[in-house]
Amino acid sequence: MKTRTIAFTLNGEPREVVVRPNDLLLNVIRDHELLTGTKYGCGIGECGTCTVQVDGKPVLSCLTLAVAADGCQVVTIEGLAEGGRLDPVQEAFLDHAAVQCGFCTPGMIMTSRSLLDEIPQPTEEEVREYLRGCLCRCTGYASIVRAVLSVAEKGA
Ligand code: FES
Ligand code: FES
Repeated sequence: MKTRTIAFTLNGEPREVVVRPNDLLLNVIRDHELLTGTKYGCGIGECGTCTVQVDGKPVLSCLTLAVAADGCQVVTIEGLAEGGRLDPVQEAFLDHAAVQCGFCTPGMIMTSRSLLDEIPQPTEEEVREYLRGCLCRCTGYASIVRAVLSVAEKGA
């Protein structure tokens, strides 16, 4: 199968990777770049745990071809903290016990960060609607919603 080289920014660092046309962004992130914070859950776009940001928008990396990231800025959960400081969304998830097994957490946090960047003061309904594609089998969602709303309250 013919390969090509894609160039993109991953968590602020320039990367060049040789990919096949059918390689997925999720596999490039986890298997090539060894950033395993982004999880492989369902693989069919149903759970949201593979969510990363591409050019600031949340995307399901299990449904995104790696070639689509060519020229883009990709941010994973590993890239959210800056200068050793957790992102306010990460802090809030800890403060509100919004993490149990943690499998959904990277996707939840990346999606929540995108929500707050897009809608800085969301209502509870807007939070629930935005996160509807992220499934959690542990928390019952209430603590996650509280965490996101607390970040909005602080304007962070
Ligand atoms: S692994 Fe991508 S949506 Fe489930
Ligand atoms: S914390 Fe376990 S699936 Fe969400």
